[in-house]
Amino acid sequence: MKRLVPTLISDGVSIEFIMLIRTLLAATKEIAFRVSQGELSGILGSTLDENIQGETQKKLDVLSNQLIRDMLLDDVSVRTIASEEEDNVIAGTEGAPYIVAFDPLDGSSNIDINGQIGTIFTVYSARDDVPADSPLQFSQPGKNQLCAGYVLYGPATLLVLTTGGPTRCYTLDLTHSGFLLTQDVLKVPEDTQEFAINMANRRFWFDETVRYVDDLIAGEEGPLAKRYNMRWNAAMVGDLHRVLTRGGIFMYPSDSRNPKQPAKLRLLYEANPMAMLLEQAGGKAYADTTRILDIMPDELHQRVPVQMGSVNEVEACLSYYK
Ligand code: F6P
Repeated sequence: MKRLVPTLISDGVSIEFIMLIRTLLAATKEIAFRVSQGELSGILGSTLDENIQGETQKKLDVLSNQLIRDMLLDDVSVRTIASEEEDNVIAGTEGAPYIVAFDPLDGSSNIDINGQIGTIFTVYSARDDVPADSPLQFSQPGKNQLCAGYVLYGPATLLVLTTGGPTRCYTLDLTHSGFLLTQDVLKVPEDTQEFAINMANRRFWFDETVRYVDDLIAGEEGPLAKRYNMRWNAAMVGDLHRVLTRGGIFMYPSDSRNPKQPAKLRLLYEANPMAMLLEQAGGKAYADTTRILDIMPDELHQRVPVQMGSVNEVEACLSYYK
């Protein structure tokens, strides 16, 4: 097989890589437009289908997946793609340098209520030792990511991106339909008094989580000696954007609701890209006792528990899991 060798330009980033990011952004701009049209765009509501995770698919999930998938498959620098909405990987251009994984629409339950939703993506180098249509293309730890980012469709459409340097934030300028750099470096504060967790699952949590969250709620009188506030967006992009902007801890721990599926968030499409964005912004991202970016995936749609955010708070949390 002939491998297409990326052409490096002055700052070490290849032209093919820049073109790939442009492809991803073109798709997200189209999604942003449809989202901003709400009911008028005819994309609210559910389909009759379920995805590989057994979740009902929303029309916007399906549309976003098709848009990103088709545009990436047309990009000659993409060898393989994986989507949270697809059962298997899809082969792109033979010999192309990159593979891309994405969650086309994170926070689907917010679609119909005009709440925050987003697209999460990650890029790795393609593996030459396995075929383009093999899920083993993505059998790489998150620390191999070349780039991680999300587009948050909120009151403003934001792009948060890292290519291994700082985590930067761009705002979609609707007057010319381009993302403009609006925050050169995002820095997660080391301390926080804000936590994010779905409290409705408390009765299913394991002991460590119950003890830690009870101590958060105990406030000044508890062992953590601080008054905490709680926020929950039900969209990881929204919650993590808040954490990246003003600090906090975000958790989706394992629980006993469904023994066949003890964790909820996906390693490849959610935990890994968010962990890279956070670490590059000075935060910390763990799955109980393991750094998320060190996890070697054993399957495409693998799920992991997540504790991520302000470094000192995540460390306090992890001390309960030892
Ligand atoms: O994985 C999908 C997701 O929507 C995340 O974006 C979000 O953090 C979580 O699930 C919400 O979970 P719950 O339905 O328990 O609030």
